[in-house]
Amino acid sequence: MKRSERAEQDRAKEIKKQKLLHQLGGQQLPYLTPKDEGFQLLWKTKYTNLILREANKIPFDLHVQMQRAFSSLLQCGCFFRDLVNIRGKDVFTAVSRVIIGNPGCTYKYLNTRLFPIPWQTILSKITYSQEEIAMSCHALKEFNNYLCSIVGNDVVRSEDSKVIGEGLENNLVQPDLANSCESEKGIEDPLTSVEEPPVQKQSRHKAVGALFNVTLLNYMDPKTMPYLKEEPYFGMGPMAVGWHHDESLVAGSPVAVYNYTSSDPGTISDKKACWRAGLKVAWDIDTPGLVLPLQPGDCYFMMDDLNMTHQHCVLVGDEPRFSSTHRVAEEGDSTLDYVFGRTEEAVSNLLKGSTLSNASLNSTEITILKKTEEIHNEVEFEWLRQYWFQGRRYAKFTDWWCKPIEKLEEDWKQLELMTLLMLKAVEDDRWSSEKRRDAIGSLLPILTERQELRQHWKNRCQSKLAKSLPADDRPMCHPYWEEGDLSMPLPFDLQSTIAHLEEIVTSTGIEEHL
Ligand code: OGA
Ligand code: MN
Repeated sequence: MKRSERAEQDRAKEIKKQKLLHQLGGQQLPYLTPKDEGFQLLWKTKYTNLILREANKIPFDLHVQMQRAFSSLLQCGCFFRDLVNIRGKDVFTAVSRVIIGNPGCTYKYLNTRLFPIPWQTILSKITYSQEEIAMSCHALKEFNNYLCSIVGNDVVRSEDSKVIGEGLENNLVQPDLANSCESEKGIEDPLTSVEEPPVQKQSRHKAVGALFNVTLLNYMDPKTMPYLKEEPYFGMGPMAVGWHHDESLVAGSPVAVYNYTSSDPGTISDKKACWRAGLKVAWDIDTPGLVLPLQPGDCYFMMDDLNMTHQHCVLVGDEPRFSSTHRVAEEGDSTLDYVFGRTEEAVSNLLKGSTLSNASLNSTEITILKKTEEIHNEVEFEWLRQYWFQGRRYAKFTDWWCKPIEKLEEDWKQLELMTLLMLKAVEDDRWSSEKRRDAIGSLLPILTERQELRQHWKNRCQSKLAKSLPADDRPMCHPYWEEGDLSMPLPFDLQSTIAHLEEIVTSTGIEEHL
């Protein structure tokens, strides 16, 4: 989706939200917790695809590995508050995050493309800067495999829907949670009661082949947060993550969340406020909200289209808390293989062996020129500027992204040269004025977008928030070059280039009328 389209969508959403809040007129909507009558019924009927797997149903060694991974990653300084862009405004996320996943996968949320620390796969050899990071990535991958096996196996067996039902009964449960928040049970406590799981047999087919390819980890210590936003519709309390749908996921794919609070030993039995997941039906003020208390080691699943039909938020408890949110990131245009394929396609129109002083295009067909310029924008703004906006943080933990990003920058430099050649081509005397006008008509919007986005990213890098970060993590406006840099075919600022093209269109327009 284009930035302008997204901005438009965001605005429409904001208006809808304001309208809802206005309808409420300051009143708060009802929501149910396990202590309330009707909680189970509400869960079963309106939150069917929310499934909880309590800590004691998860193998002990996996808990140990996960918890070790969380604290190692924290100690290694891997968690960062992302400087994201919401409705055109830059803000730091309240939670600190790190993303880990399949090599070459990226994940985009809130206009920010995250570049995961890769976990090891059969085909990949990853070098990590520290052994602890290697171990942590391995642990997360193991846990990811486990999650895939409980969600995926049932899906794999989905040819026979009866089996799915049985499989899920054994694996994922929606237990009686009454008083679980107040109860003093630790990880090993048995379930008080187990109910039939909610299974929508047909719709499970949708997730066939869906395997979690990334996990976005969250961390927050509420004691260090001077201000947390209150949940606005229901009065559920302060939030760590506000109401949202998870973005950039394969439609209908599941999301699995592992929850862990690191309580000091000895304080477990204290009556501390626990962390909770809040859920509501999107754009619906009639269905009560649902609050699901989470114990350390609990895992919850948003199955099928729950993430689309509902929104969720995270409500803070007293203690520092980690979560690992396993997702099926949409891979269409967000893998390294994809973007390399795109640049290869574009660069194939540059005559082999072209140099800055001696270069030419194979074809000057308008559709080809247009596609090249579109790919140019995509590589520059969806990859290079996104990557460098997050500073040097990725290179701190693994060198995995360095080479691919370098290669993308080399390709992008060729694309700069191709833009120069394109600009020369449209001024070719042999072109009819009609062809010239057509070409400029197709190319001008792309160059204008390039100019706008360059200014946008430059401004983002110069914001107060960006500058408040330590040097290593500070957003970098890269690539950037000064006027008159002879190593670059074109200037960074395209204002005069664009003005020149506009002039050509106007003057050829006049010519035609004479
Ligand atoms: C998220 C999210 C849920 C949780 O990071 O998108 O919704 O329980 N997290 O941490
Ligand atoms: Mn989420």
